[in-house]
Amino acid sequence: MMKQYRVGIIGCTGMVGQRFATILENHPWFTVTALAASARSAGKTYEEAVGGRWAMKTPMPEFMAKMPVYDAEKDIEKIVSLVDFVFCAVNMKKEEIRALEETYARHECPVVSNNSAHRSTPDVPMIIPEINADHVEVIEAQRKRLGTKRGFIAVKCNCSLQSYVPAIHPLMDLGVTKVLACTYQAISGAGKTFETMPQILDNVIPYIGGEEEKSEQEPLKIWGHVENGVIVNTNTPSITSQCLRVPVSDGHMAAVFFSLENKISKEEIIERWEKFRGPAQELELPSAPKQFLHYFTEDDRPQPKLDRDLEGGMAVSVGRLRPDTQYDYKFVCLSHNTLRGAAGGALLMAELLCAKGYFD
Ligand SMILES: NC(=O)c1ccc[n+]([C@@H]2O[C@H](COP(=O)([O-])OP(=O)(O)OC[C@H]3O[C@@H](n4cnc5c(N)ncnc54)[C@H](OP(=O)(O)O)[C@@H]3O)[C@@H](O)[C@H]2O)c1
Repeated sequence: MMKQYRVGIIGCTGMVGQRFATILENHPWFTVTALAASARSAGKTYEEAVGGRWAMKTPMPEFMAKMPVYDAEKDIEKIVSLVDFVFCAVNMKKEEIRALEETYARHECPVVSNNSAHRSTPDVPMIIPEINADHVEVIEAQRKRLGTKRGFIAVKCNCSLQSYVPAIHPLMDLGVTKVLACTYQAISGAGKTFETMPQILDNVIPYIGGEEEKSEQEPLKIWGHVENGVIVNTNTPSITSQCLRVPVSDGHMAAVFFSLENKISKEEIIERWEKFRGPAQELELPSAPKQFLHYFTEDDRPQPKLDRDLEGGMAVSVGRLRPDTQYDYKFVCLSHNTLRGAAGGALLMAELLCAKGYFD
């Protein structure tokens, strides 16, 4: 039997934190032993701290409801004594998050983060386990910099790119020269529901702060390589994006255009998508989808409402691949933003780190 690990959720009351709570309820390797949020929630039970904010379709896990919520900053000694590692998804200023995550790491507590604060730190890996699992090796250099034996930070990429980076990845050896991606993003990505974001009904909001920069730059780190203890970003493909908020509860879509140096047929591209497997599948990580990329032949798929929950919300759906007049091809793709795009993606990364011994 696999060894069991104790885990904390920092930001447990938030949209991503609630997702962590639900997907960790029956996890075969990890058990939630500590919950933390802001001083506003500290001292309450999880149930009291969340109050009317519970936004998941399944009820709050029973064993967590009565657990105490700690103050993520003030109770750090207590929290690290209760866990083997933490997930972190908090809504704070960038500098505050950077400091908070480093403090946990320096207390010898590994941090698997959904926050963007450390995504461009060169010795912090940003891993999609099917794509760049080899970036774990940079952790050794990070531990040296932090002066830790166990503690380190690993981050999950932004949810906007979670559909198109996986779809483009199996084509990268053909020389992908340019990518244009327009995203249609769900309101849960802003920590909102239709009740808390009524202005989205019958509407589209053409701005999501910081999202376009993340969509264009983060893929270049994911496709980068480790050299002398840092991740060196790639400089191709050149990526341009526009990100829109649409009236959808969960599931980010993208309309994508791309060009290749070495042309292949539509059928060959679909075959590459269907055959694609990565370390997450090879290691049989508990949260890994069996089939990462699903190609739909129907003209009206994928759709968020119908397809976001494919393989527990951990797969990526692709459809409508066809030639384009300005780029070589265009297609649409979809991924569940709080599952694969946030908590689920972080959980899969944690499973990879665990399987490779980084939590021992
Ligand atoms: N939603 C997504 O799909 C998504 C995807 C990828 C990444 N992210 C990132 O994940 C993080 C959380 O997003 P979210 O949507 O879950 O936000 P959210 O629903 O607003 O939740 C924010 C969480 O942060 C906690 N918090 C706020 N100030 C704090 C403090 N000073 N110390 C400790 N905890 C504090 C809140 O606790 P209280 O309840 O006590 O205030 C709450 O648990 C953000 O960095 C976001 O960019 C979100």
